[in-house]
Amino acid sequence: MSEKVFSALWAEIESIGRVSSGGYMRYALDAPELVLRDWFRNQADRRDMPVTDDGNGNLFAWWGEPWGRGAVLTGSHFDSVPHGGGYDGPLGIVSAFLAVDQLRAAGHTPEVPLAVVAFVEEEGGRFGLPCLGSRLLSGAIDPAKAAALTDRDGVTFGEALGATPAGALPGLTNRIGALVELHIEQGRQLEVPVGVASAIWPHGRWRFDFTGHGDHAGTTRMADRRDPMLTFAYTVLAANKEARLAGAHATMARVEVEPNATNAIPSLVRGWLDARAADTGTMDSVVEAVVKRATERAGRDGTEVAVTAESLSAEVTFDTALASRLSAMLGDAPILPTGAGHDAGVLSAQVPTAMLFVRNPTGISHSPAEHAEPADCAAGVDALATVVRELT
Ligand code: GLV
Ligand code: MN
Ligand code: MN
Repeated sequence: MSEKVFSALWAEIESIGRVSSGGYMRYALDAPELVLRDWFRNQADRRDMPVTDDGNGNLFAWWGEPWGRGAVLTGSHFDSVPHGGGYDGPLGIVSAFLAVDQLRAAGHTPEVPLAVVAFVEEEGGRFGLPCLGSRLLSGAIDPAKAAALTDRDGVTFGEALGATPAGALPGLTNRIGALVELHIEQGRQLEVPVGVASAIWPHGRWRFDFTGHGDHAGTTRMADRRDPMLTFAYTVLAANKEARLAGAHATMARVEVEPNATNAIPSLVRGWLDARAADTGTMDSVVEAVVKRATERAGRDGTEVAVTAESLSAEVTFDTALASRLSAMLGDAPILPTGAGHDAGVLSAQVPTAMLFVRNPTGISHSPAEHAEPADCAAGVDALATVVRELT
């Protein structure tokens, strides 16, 4: 694939949802993401690929019989984290359409249906639960529970979707033969244009509600304060320290404060912990240690802390035989793990899945600075076309 062909299609979506930070605000089922979903339908039309919706917000563009037995799916997601990069997700969808073009130009006729897929709400940026679309499709979440998830404005997922989600696809394991998700690599680990994923670290999100006593910043004696901001601040540091000690990752990057006034001691601080590790035991023990330290500190601060597990994504080992096969097809492409979550990881519990990674020169992701070179993206399309040709 020429860089020029890749760049031409990429240019069609590059400005959609881009804001002044240089990053993207592409929340699931919000205006820019709806534009991208229209773009998806147009791309499918251009290629005579009928589009189906699984009733969960996931879109599928078909080459061959929709949901015929043993279909091969390839794609990713359109949504971004707030001010995230443009490649995380959309690169997999753009590459999938270009791989279809390449296979058609080469005269390939798939023996099983092939679908380009766009999963909804992969980041959990809007409704809080990552990989919501693939969890619904695979029956990993109750549709009523998914429907009730709310965004920051109180809009539910069910309202945004316009219906209660349909939930698990009947006969999923027979209908999907394999899923291959191409994605930008996110950790400075890949020194050649394309690699293959081996595993995803287990990860999860925990909400910490720190409550104290709201009062006047000028008149409340220091000794009399019950300030939840102090407990929160201590917890941020404790999370960092526990993760370092365990060789894990812990991040507290989202916070809400009430009343959020310069001259008032807060009554509530709500912070989210994102914790990840190479194995579940390590992740669990980091979270346990952070909760213990936060609770002890709350005792000293005269505050209270309540912890809610909002999401858990189990440890994933991708189908080892499939990963080795892909690596061999691609001339011994490196096989590497990642600490980032993906829809392919969720579906791997039920169907054979694999991921291709495209080199990220800085490793930066979930940031406006995320970048991939067009030549590497074009190599990614070639690799995806090779893999999909073999699998169909
Ligand atoms: C999604 O990209 C995640 O790993 O949080
Ligand atoms: Mn992401
Ligand atoms: Mn992604």
